[in-house]
Amino acid sequence: MMLDNTKIRGIVEINRNIVRSNNDMNKKYLAALLTTTILSIPFIASANPDGESIFKSNCTMCHDIDQKKMGPSVKSMSTDSNVLRTTITAGKNAMPGFDGKLSGAEIDALVKYLVANQ
Ligand code: HEC
Repeated sequence: MMLDNTKIRGIVEINRNIVRSNNDMNKKYLAALLTTTILSIPFIASANPDGESIFKSNCTMCHDIDQKKMGPSVKSMSTDSNVLRTTITAGKNAMPGFDGKLSGAEIDALVKYLVANQ
């Protein structure tokens, strides 16, 4: 879960207003706003997964940007996003599939990262 300073400040501010408010309606409204804000944080974080960090933690043991390791270099991989997505999802020979290990959004971020580094 990613919490940046703006979000933390927003949550602290809503909390402060709940404590200060002496009107019951306002308290309920602000408490609901706080819940919505907190619930939206993981969604925001997972909607913008970081392709580079996913690549570093799942792929670099077998792949490098420009050198062959156990698997081909990123620069020698297919440049077709659909081929990349299919291979990452289903795997290929010694390449393990990541279906169920990475979300669709994470695989999309990875594909963008690979294409951007070719
Ligand atoms: C255990 C080692 C290993 C890991 C971990 C691994 N790969 Fe692979 N990968 C391979 C091997 C080996 C191949 C070659 C498969 C073949 O063509 O027989 C391959 C092939 C690929 C291909 C196909 C290239 C092409 O153009 O045909 C892509 C794309 C790919 N890997 C991406 C990834 C990504 C992204 C990750 C991380 C999520 C990853 N791999 C993790 C070993 C691995």
